[in-house]
Amino acid sequence: MSNIQLHGKSFEIFLPEALIQEKIAALASEINTAYAGKKPLFIAVLNGSFMFASDLFKSISIEAEICFIKLASYKGTTSTGQVITAIGLDVDLTNRHIIVLEDIIDTGKTLHTFLPQLHNQQPASLKIGVLLHKPDATVFEVPIDYCCFSIPNKFVLGYGLDYDGYGRNSRDIYKLAE
Ligand code: XMP
Ligand code: MG
Repeated sequence: MSNIQLHGKSFEIFLPEALIQEKIAALASEINTAYAGKKPLFIAVLNGSFMFASDLFKSISIEAEICFIKLASYKGTTSTGQVITAIGLDVDLTNRHIIVLEDIIDTGKTLHTFLPQLHNQQPASLKIGVLLHKPDATVFEVPIDYCCFSIPNKFVLGYGLDYDGYGRNSRDIYKLAE
């Protein structure tokens, strides 16, 4: 597994597929126990979370639903913080147990800005599950309940995450080379 080149930048292997899958299986099993009988509704934030949501959901063995929404646009290698209105949120959240799935919390602005909209619908509970968290970059408070990996403040791609649209199809996660 050598470096990959995208838009003139070099990326090196960071989190290999097997490690990602191990963490996701552990998270699924935790959720299966915690949410048994609660029929949770997963809300996955597109585009970046599609692989994470898919692999996690395949290991959810309790009754559960999933829906996909689109929220934010992201350009370049630092977070723009741009937030677009939620598209595709067509399920009634009242009294539901919600688990929001995000690929990565960077500054935290996206979820910090969006979560009040979900709380307004008065779900029975609302938790956040993320694949990656960059604690050193986070300036907006987000209550993260489940996190697969805490990572340094480096740009990453692969496993659903992109650099200007490319790189999502990698099974491993890469980081910007030094
Ligand atoms: P905030 O700053 O709002 O950012 O927490 C969340 C969104 O920004 C994108 N993001 C990244 N995408 N590699 C990416 O491919 C990264 O290192 C990265 N950091 C932030 C991502 O879409 C996330 O939902
Ligand atoms: Mg995202």
